[in-house]
Amino acid sequence: MGTIKLPTKSIDFFKSKQDKIFNTGSLAEGPWNEALSKKIRAITGSKNAVCFNSNGSGLVSLLLIYKEYYGRTDIMIQSNTMYGVKTITGTAGYKIVGYIDCQLTTLMPSFNDLKKSVKNYKGDVKKLVIMLSDIGGIINPDIEKIAKFCKEKNIILLEDAAHSFGSNLNKKFAGTFGNAGVYSYYSTKAIFAGEGGIAVTNDNNVGNLLKDFNAYDRFKQKMPIGCNFRLTELQALMIYSVVKEYEEIIKNKSKTAQKYLETCNSLKIKYISQNTNDNIGNYYKFTIISPKKKISDLLPNLKTTTSKVYDYALGNCKDLPSQHTCLPIWFSLEESISEKVVQELKSCF
Ligand SMILES: Cc1ncc(COP(=O)(O)O)c(C=O)c1O
Repeated sequence: MGTIKLPTKSIDFFKSKQDKIFNTGSLAEGPWNEALSKKIRAITGSKNAVCFNSNGSGLVSLLLIYKEYYGRTDIMIQSNTMYGVKTITGTAGYKIVGYIDCQLTTLMPSFNDLKKSVKNYKGDVKKLVIMLSDIGGIINPDIEKIAKFCKEKNIILLEDAAHSFGSNLNKKFAGTFGNAGVYSYYSTKAIFAGEGGIAVTNDNNVGNLLKDFNAYDRFKQKMPIGCNFRLTELQALMIYSVVKEYEEIIKNKSKTAQKYLETCNSLKIKYISQNTNDNIGNYYKFTIISPKKKISDLLPNLKTTTSKVYDYALGNCKDLPSQHTCLPIWFSLEESISEKVVQELKSCF
């Protein structure tokens, strides 16, 4: 299949700025980390944005901070998420006290799924963190209700926004719904730059703790925890170069999506919509679903697909992997590929 490409404007911007980094010798903790943080704050409206070398290192740092300063030790994650989300919680020394069920229509938990898991929890909610992953490019449609519920119950809600940079729900940016959120810019993601993650939060105390944590707190020397999970200046420039074009990247992918949408609508194939009135996704994945039978039985001739969102379940919902598949969609996708997909879909009926 074709290769995933970056916009030319991003590559040119990177090349035009990289020499200054070499000339000044400012290779770490310099102006591009600052500029990137400022840019993310401007785009997301979040008060704090701290750069990390991955989404995982940002989440581990947040979890350690919530453990050390907010007494949190227990965590729930959703059944349908990357296996690494489980290892992230273990790395931070948390006890997993539940895997929240997910719905095929979103591949994420509904408000009721989450309430059910909290009801089954026998511990003290003041020790609890719930970490939800936005899946496939859209924000969890129930996240506003979930955030309100968690706030009322004094549960910390973290939004793993690894998939959803650039997506909006009711004009609010992904990553900004819970106590904190973290994006990923890993090379397969919707808005990708190789490696990197950025944690956002409106809680200035948590924001400051994150910054100090990432500097080993070597200036104030008050914290017992901290580790260098920082971005290099070259990588901060790289992410900046891509992020400044994020809207163009999504717009470009929307064209491919439009083609798939028309085909799915005409053939009555169900898919997870990324463009409802209030929930605008970044088209990380174009996911088609089959509620009644295996997707491979419904669409036997469909061969040109990318990997499933996940081909395993961490908790219940063991049928989700066989009931969905993903069509190729990325920036500057070759038309020959999307055309092949359309023909394969048509030939199933
Ligand atoms: C849902 C989810 N969360 C977190 C991550 C981790 O992202 P990173 O590789 O930037 O640490 C991924 C990466 O695949 C992911 O899919």
